[in-house]
Amino acid sequence: MKRRHFLTSSSAMLGAAGALSQLPTRRAFAQSKAPLTRLSMPPLLDTRATGRLALTTSAGSTSFLGGATTPTAGFNQDYLGPTIVVQNGELAAEVKNTLGDPISAHWHGLLVPGEHDGGPHLPIATGETWRPEIAIAQDPATVWYHSHIHEQTAEQVYFGLAGVIHVRDGQDDARGLPSAYGIDDLTLVLQDRRFDAAGRMVYSASRMDVMHGFSGNRMLVNGQAGATAVVPKGITRLRLLNGSNARIYTLFFDDARPMHLVATDGGFLPAPVALDTLRLAPGERAEILVDFSGGDAPILMSDPGQSYGILQFATDTTLPTRIGRLPEQLDGVLEDLLGAEVNTRQVSLDMGMGRMMRGGGFAINGRPFDMRRIDFEVALGSVERWHVRSTMLAHPLHVHGVRFRVVSENGAPPRPENIGWKDTVLVPGEADLLARFDQPASRETPFMFHCHILEHEDAGMMGQFTVT
Ligand code: C2O
Ligand code: CU
Ligand code: CU
Repeated sequence: MKRRHFLTSSSAMLGAAGALSQLPTRRAFAQSKAPLTRLSMPPLLDTRATGRLALTTSAGSTSFLGGATTPTAGFNQDYLGPTIVVQNGELAAEVKNTLGDPISAHWHGLLVPGEHDGGPHLPIATGETWRPEIAIAQDPATVWYHSHIHEQTAEQVYFGLAGVIHVRDGQDDARGLPSAYGIDDLTLVLQDRRFDAAGRMVYSASRMDVMHGFSGNRMLVNGQAGATAVVPKGITRLRLLNGSNARIYTLFFDDARPMHLVATDGGFLPAPVALDTLRLAPGERAEILVDFSGGDAPILMSDPGQSYGILQFATDTTLPTRIGRLPEQLDGVLEDLLGAEVNTRQVSLDMGMGRMMRGGGFAINGRPFDMRRIDFEVALGSVERWHVRSTMLAHPLHVHGVRFRVVSENGAPPRPENIGWKDTVLVPGEADLLARFDQPASRETPFMFHCHILEHEDAGMMGQFTVT
């Protein structure tokens, strides 16, 4: 696979690739004597008053672990981008690329036509500015944005070209939901990253890394390592984004407190659902409510059984407690699309040892991604059933331009994480999805569907479709 060097010079391959053992354990958190570093949120970029959004890439340098610096990239800052707040209506966006390679700005989860979607057919060359006039009309949700240049997505996202978007409607008080940014409404970008002995973040995907997806040996939350999230003594909303290239989290709190799921990728549920564990694959988002009124300091962990720490919490009584109890109901409407489908498609997410040996391997329905080939032609406004099948590993399938319902997983009803509106879903085995394709996409700017393990996507596990 061809790899251009995005920002870094080639770094030596590390032996202990992505070893879990280097991720912090519960004890490591508990014994840490380091003074508390408060987790910060990405800066807020609220477009609601102006209807304008201006992003400029920036090549920066970041010292993640306090020592050596790593060349990184971001939007309007050195690593990652601001949290963009949008509302329904017109958004005049402007994305300027100052980096040495083409980038794009894909709005992952915004329901917009192909020409505004920012996929691989909409590269922004060095020095150029892309100015889509985006019409936003969708339910409130936590979505995100990232670069999406074919064969470079993994590296560009890894070094920082990603950020979060809140689609808001101003009704969270009526819903009884926390909404004070960075106080009781936290945006948390979960990313594992690989660091060398000097503390530099490195990316150099070996054949094995491409097979399994590139995983790290340290956790970053909002680009920060080892920080503590400080919250009021009350109900806090966590907007979680798995912004990792490949790692799948199974999140839980070390004291087993429940996580109340209120929203999935595409919007709110009809009512909160209490979960002990929450699985989150690359590209997926979940909004949960957590009760901190007891005032203690739990740790968000991942992978029960082989657990490691994600984020330490602490409460601060000087912070205002705005929400003291969980809402009983929400206003998410889960349209039942069953029976409305006019077409069923097979989507096989392919990889295999035999195929790997021949150098290809990553494909959908046997065909590796080709920018010039349209895989599916979908009728605008129609409902389709996609029968998705994973081979070798569980792959997170993402579909541009829609939100879908998961009808079944391996013949059974979907797991609780997947009952709401989704645009990305982990498929261990088989799943049936239903979607209404309401956004148009032409042959010039088709929608993508792909595995959101970014190394798999870049290696060819991606296809494209028109909606006309
Ligand atoms: Cu989040 Cu096609 O991407
Ligand atoms: Cu997307
Ligand atoms: Cu995959």
